[in-house]
Amino acid sequence: MHHFAYRRGVSHANVLHAEEVDLCALADTVGTPFYCYSSATLERHYKVFTGAFEARPDTLVCYSIKANSNLGVLKTLANLGAGMDVVSEGELRRALAVGVPGERIAFSGVGKTKEEMAFALDAGIYAFNVESEPELRALSEVAERKGLTARIAFRVNPDVDALTHHKISTGRAENKFGVPFEQALSLYRQAATLPGIAPVGVHMHIGSQITDLAPFKNAFALLTELVGTLRNAGFAIDFVNLGGGLGIPYRSDEPAPPLPTDYARLVNEAMGDLDVRLLFEPGRMIAGNAGILVSRVLYVKTDPDKTFTIVDAAMNDLIRPTLYEAYHQILPVIESTPETFTRITDVVGPVCETGDYLALARPLPELHAGDLIAIMTAGAYGAVQASQYNSRLLVPEVLVSGEAFCVTRPRPSYEDMLSAERLPDWL
Ligand code: LLP
Repeated sequence: MHHFAYRRGVSHANVLHAEEVDLCALADTVGTPFYCYSSATLERHYKVFTGAFEARPDTLVCYSIKANSNLGVLKTLANLGAGMDVVSEGELRRALAVGVPGERIAFSGVGKTKEEMAFALDAGIYAFNVESEPELRALSEVAERKGLTARIAFRVNPDVDALTHHKISTGRAENKFGVPFEQALSLYRQAATLPGIAPVGVHMHIGSQITDLAPFKNAFALLTELVGTLRNAGFAIDFVNLGGGLGIPYRSDEPAPPLPTDYARLVNEAMGDLDVRLLFEPGRMIAGNAGILVSRVLYVKTDPDKTFTIVDAAMNDLIRPTLYEAYHQILPVIESTPETFTRITDVVGPVCETGDYLALARPLPELHAGDLIAIMTAGAYGAVQASQYNSRLLVPEVLVSGEAFCVTRPRPSYEDMLSAERLPDWL
């Protein structure tokens, strides 16, 4: 459920709104393209997810910042008490900047630098998700030097197929993530001998946009087995981090993915009598349907066999369609009836790449230059994956709450873009 819907607008009968904000009017104010996020949707998704685990008081939901790191989005979630899952010092600084206390932050990633480790230790984070033996030794060195102790969970790779796109599957043996399940016990033993390390948790994350609960079930079974093995070996495991990955609906003509309540039932079955604190790292589930990308049609080009709708947003603004063959629903901002969705068109951007498209062979109503479209479900892995390719300016991000809106990240100017670079003195 999200808060983007058609309502009576300022200048047209039925205009797509973000909560109470007319998107035609917003486009006139902010210019296109722009990302628009709904606070009510973010709040709702966070509450639905945490609510599904109400019966388990000792849970910590660490929103995965990589999905959408806009400070307005983070502050909205921080105000609800969310923890954060970070993968870099930059993300950690964002979490701290919006007031998330260190004890609600988990740090993942295969390539944490010693500087990042030191920064995170100083911030007093809840735990490091350690992904290799050399990383473990580096962390021990840094913690010992500082006279601090790093609480760690090994990220265990269960070699389970998450049945998702191969580029967002992370729990197969061939993926770079985590330590092999079979090596876990010996790594925990090694960790226990190292100064500055407290091996107190277990972590796993098998992939993203997972729409079938079976892979979670198989992975969670291995995880509970591992907790038993570790406890029998004398380890005081006090938390289990189940990662993120729950899929969301991108299209209405496909079966809906499992609900957070279905997921919670599975978690409770798998973890039922384990006396541990549970951590989760949902990203897409919280932010995905809470954001859209609004773009204006520049030209409609009709070739003998094809129609191209050329819009002002491009692959550099939203790379998901071309990178993961992802489907994003496209809606005209001024409502059209369903029977008018009959013009088959590729929706493409101005970037000089064949892969620059937002949709291929998509039935849409007849669109004209100047019309506005909304690319839906763009709140997760949208703006965060944007680049300036073709020297295009990053698009602004707008956060809406009821009738209010704030441009939380303004569009840079061309002067900003050029002044970020230096010329060498020999030129
Ligand atoms: N925890 C860890 C350790 C992760 O690596 C990820 C995502 C998450 C949590 C959050 O997963 P989520 O709940 O959002 O599925 N750019 C891709 C998705 C990459 C996901 C990477 N890891 C996309 O646009 O589909």
